Amino acid sequence: MTIVDVITIDGPTASGKGTVAHKVADALSFHLLDSGALYRLVALASERAGIGMQDVEGLASLATRLDVKFGPDRVWLRGEEVSLAIRAEATGNRASAIAVHQPVRDALTALQRGFRKLPGLVADGRDMGTVIFPDARLKVFLTASVEARARRRYKQLIDKGISANIEDLLRDLESRDQRDRSRAAAPLRPAEDAHLLDTSDMTVDQAVAQVLQWYGAPGS
Ligand code: DC
Repeated sequence: MTIVDVITIDGPTASGKGTVAHKVADALSFHLLDSGALYRLVALASERAGIGMQDVEGLASLATRLDVKFGPDRVWLRGEEVSLAIRAEATGNRASAIAVHQPVRDALTALQRGFRKLPGLVADGRDMGTVIFPDARLKVFLTASVEARARRRYKQLIDKGISANIEDLLRDLESRDQRDRSRAAAPLRPAEDAHLLDTSDMTVDQAVAQVLQWYGAPGS
């Protein structure tokens, strides 16, 4: 049986993992899994369906039936493009709140593992290296100071035309990280065999080059 290589890139909110994962996948022509998008999709779909954040059964059942389609940089929910809608801070916070429920996480496990296809996969999230792909060929845990992350998130949102306030972002990031780290189900933490990469003072390209070098990509 062919073992399909996986590179996992985990880390806190706005650590740059999405951008780094994207560029590493491009450089290797690998598939990409943005697992946070799945939690954001469940958050958006459940909000629209009027399912409460504590209705674990309702949320898990919705996550199992999630009608989602991914394209390059775009995502559709029941045929409607929601690429921008899922990026709202409120949706990210709601995603973090529903991600504490183990049945919701279980409902998304098979969907996430289904992204593992030749020639390889780069998966970013919180528990890619610890839970979803424990046998990944390379595991990276990205960190960055909370100030650096708030600045990046601010720029990301403004670039997308979404209004933002840096103090609110800082507060939201801290409380979201705190919840992601302290939950019982698949808490945010580096896998024991993960390489740690602090990107506070790094450019995206430097971070990408480091990941490619760890992977042993030709020319890196
Ligand atoms: O990476 P992101 O900001 O798009 O993720 C949104 C939330 O989803 C995050 O705060 C926690 C949750 N999440 C998770 O619990 N596990 C993952 N693998 C990815 C995201």
